[in-house]
Amino acid sequence: MRITVEKALELLGRGHVVALPTETVYGLAASIYHPKGIEQIYTLKKRPSSNPLIIHVASTKNIQDYAKSLPLQFNELAKTFWPGPLTLILPVYTDLIPHVVRAGLPTAGFRIPNHPLTLEILKKSGPLVMPSANISGSPSSTDAEHVENDFGIDFPVVDGGACLQGLESTILYYDEDKWVIGRMGAITPEVLQKVLGYKPTLSKGHAKPICPGSHFRHYAPKAKLLLKDAGEAPVILGFSDKTYRKGARVIIMGSLEKPEEVAENLYRVLRQLDQEHISSAWVDMDFPRDGLWQTIAERLQRAAE
Ligand code: TXA
Ligand code: MG
Repeated sequence: MRITVEKALELLGRGHVVALPTETVYGLAASIYHPKGIEQIYTLKKRPSSNPLIIHVASTKNIQDYAKSLPLQFNELAKTFWPGPLTLILPVYTDLIPHVVRAGLPTAGFRIPNHPLTLEILKKSGPLVMPSANISGSPSSTDAEHVENDFGIDFPVVDGGACLQGLESTILYYDEDKWVIGRMGAITPEVLQKVLGYKPTLSKGHAKPICPGSHFRHYAPKAKLLLKDAGEAPVILGFSDKTYRKGARVIIMGSLEKPEEVAENLYRVLRQLDQEHISSAWVDMDFPRDGLWQTIAERLQRAAE
């Protein structure tokens, strides 16, 4: 059910859950002041309670109240990328943030999303927790219809059009003396390097992943995705600038020249497989591995697990 900004504010104020657009993917939002709504998010998404939520705010002032300390270069990152697809994990005053938001961790993730409707809401609602608006494990939602497909036609959603980025925010945390990537996302290591002066690397070698979400099944359609042998797969996820085996149905992810276009289409294409009850598809993984392609490759690999 499409709702107005005013209606969303009213529902959030009463502790309800609504879906909101962001530039990355749609989110399921609840007010940080309403733990009942936050618990409902976990139930609706069938999300493990050990997987914490990102707190979305309208301004860095909100963050300063919660954060115990702001690591080096926090201000540069905030100034350069917010509002935008970057999430920063910070040590927080745990008595100010409900346990259910942090999944018990002494930290919380923060981001200022870049969507005019959601920014307008955040300015009035105060901080909102917002995971991606999909059933845990399945592809994220990049338009209002995807949200309705997952949560029902009566579920309240503010329709802000199709998400321009199409991939979740990049998550950074600070470890000893460097920012480290906890989840690859819409902002590439190369772009971060311009601000940080070094290229942040992906966290690895930890017994437990830094982002608890990264050890759960993720982004996966019901269809089986084949990344290697094309075999006789009747459906191919491919690129507009290539030709494929005759007789196969090709679903275009975008152009090899435009990773942004592929990112924007990725979850829509994965969802299309299930809508059309396609049981398996071969994914053409023959694309570059720099910039945004790294995130695209990671999402496809996870979707195929
Ligand atoms: O682009 C995005 O970030 C979207 C939109 C809606 O803003 N949100 C999103 O949320 O992707 P979600 O819940 O689907 O993914 C959040 C990820 C999870 O992998 C979670 O484990 C990690 O962030 N995370 C949240 N809080 C954390 C914390 N305190 N420490 C480490 N990881 C954290
Ligand atoms: Mg998610």
